[in-house]
Amino acid sequence: MCGIVGYVGGKTALPILVEGLKRLEYRGYDSAGVAFVDPGGIRVTKSKGRISVLEHQINCSEGATTGIAHTRWATHGAPNDVNAHPHVDAAGRFALVHNGIIENYAALRTYLSNQGVTFATETDTEVLVQLIAHIYDGDIERTVKRALREVRGTYGIAVIAADEPDTVVAARNGSPLLVGIGDGEYIIASDASAILSHTTHVIYLGDNEVVRVSPDSIRTTTLDDIPVTKDIEEIEWSLDQIELGGHEHFMMKEIFEQPDALRDCMRGRIVPEEGSVHLGGITDVARELTRAKRIIMTACGTAWHAALVGEYLFEDLARIPTEVEYASEFRYRNPIIEDGTVVLAISQSGETADTLAALNEAKERGALALGAVNVVGSSIARSTDAGVFLHVGPEIGVASTKAFSGQVAVLAMLACYVGRRRHMSQGGASEFLTALSRIPEQITTILEQDGACKAVAAANISRENWLYLGRGYQYPVALEGALKLKEISYIHAEGLPAAEMKHGPIALITDQMPVVFLATRGTQYDKIISNIEEVRTRGGRVIAIATEGDQQIERLAEWVINVPDTIESLQPLLTVIPLQLIAYHAALLRGCNVDKPRNLAKSVTVE
Ligand code: F6R
Repeated sequence: MCGIVGYVGGKTALPILVEGLKRLEYRGYDSAGVAFVDPGGIRVTKSKGRISVLEHQINCSEGATTGIAHTRWATHGAPNDVNAHPHVDAAGRFALVHNGIIENYAALRTYLSNQGVTFATETDTEVLVQLIAHIYDGDIERTVKRALREVRGTYGIAVIAADEPDTVVAARNGSPLLVGIGDGEYIIASDASAILSHTTHVIYLGDNEVVRVSPDSIRTTTLDDIPVTKDIEEIEWSLDQIELGGHEHFMMKEIFEQPDALRDCMRGRIVPEEGSVHLGGITDVARELTRAKRIIMTACGTAWHAALVGEYLFEDLARIPTEVEYASEFRYRNPIIEDGTVVLAISQSGETADTLAALNEAKERGALALGAVNVVGSSIARSTDAGVFLHVGPEIGVASTKAFSGQVAVLAMLACYVGRRRHMSQGGASEFLTALSRIPEQITTILEQDGACKAVAAANISRENWLYLGRGYQYPVALEGALKLKEISYIHAEGLPAAEMKHGPIALITDQMPVVFLATRGTQYDKIISNIEEVRTRGGRVIAIATEGDQQIERLAEWVINVPDTIESLQPLLTVIPLQLIAYHAALLRGCNVDKPRNLAKSVTVE
């Protein structure tokens, strides 16, 4: 998704801006650009394609100390040099970068055209910079506020003005922005990773807030000019967490980080021998949550799959009726929120537009709004009444891996926390938490089978369609396995509850169809075996994810990847690992760009 960087301070701005853009690359983009103030006015360079292309077109030793930069992910208008940001006004006195959408840009454009303003592009962003230029009154902060009061839509923006060369003004409404606070310098960014190599001290802008930074000052106000006192917060993530650390791809790094990521996620939160869970972020709402009559989990994509696991967990452990809703559907329905309804938004980035909107819709209707979010300071985290952070560290690979594990682990802890307060015995909770605490070491043994996962991918690499089948707790894992494969290898894959196969998809089965079965030992094991037989009878090629020591499966499946035994409700945390590895290797074998799959962005901040 689009990214913003801005710099003002004593250093040369361009290298800092370009480095910031590179740190944002993982979010997905198709063009990039920079603008800076020099004595002649505003200078802009922008180009379609990779940041390395842009880098070749600029002279990074150029002395400007104020500038803004952008990575664009086209939503309206083709990805080309003209539509790339920054945009400038007709006289080249102002430059602006923008994430979001100006909904009333057509009306503003007509107004400005009638005033004689000529436009170089069709973009909504150019309308905003032209409006700023048109009404400029000698003070860029005041002018930006006046302009934004005319705007309907969502935005994170950063603006520079030729006449005020030591100033950047930034504003937010619905699109994340933070300001990194250095020594005599400020770095504005849409994502903390862009500033981490310079500072870990930040302020997060809220909606309808405007910040003005100069080398020696920072001032935050509302759009109506009311001063806002901001807390300086500390980013917990370190630089090496957002670097490759010897791995070829972030996705592989993050798959292999899962044992440690889950240890971090659970650290200090569970005491297995006591059967107790401590979740500081929900202490204040513990009573309301415990008495909930209904839980609605809302999320998108992989987080939605984690929520499905959460639904099973909450109903099993806490005995609270639970539903899972696509955030994009929930927000536009007329959802019924009664007394006792708790809405839980699940999100890695905390910036997914649909999930944020669904959460806000639920809040408006009186629900207790909780979050299970990875990015501290993100919009969803800040909009909730309470919540639990995943603490799995930054996820840079576009395909979500360790965040899924973190989401399931948090939901497991949360379900046990509530369950224990309702009817779960201490012994039951203790057994559950003991199994949970063993998951990280068990994942390590699965990761040792990376070679076997690669062999499965290699043997089936020419197949264009795969099926993933699971039952109960393994059904969401089947969905997640299929999503991982399709999003990075571009192989078509479908995940289904195994029993549904007979209701149609079985017609697809031939000797050309790899079928991945989640076939671990559990209550539905015999039924899964029957499903495997059905596929074998029709010539399908069976890949089984099975429990260690299961000899029956060895006889039935062409390929078997073993996972250690654990209680059924926690099996998703183990069985998802081989599916992540198979998808990774399939993508590599097909020559795909694993960390930057086509058409995908890391965090979907527009609808
Ligand atoms: C798939 C993937 C996406 C995200 C979805 C929600 O690998 O990453 O499906 O899970 O866009 O993102 P978050 O969790 O940031 O809300």
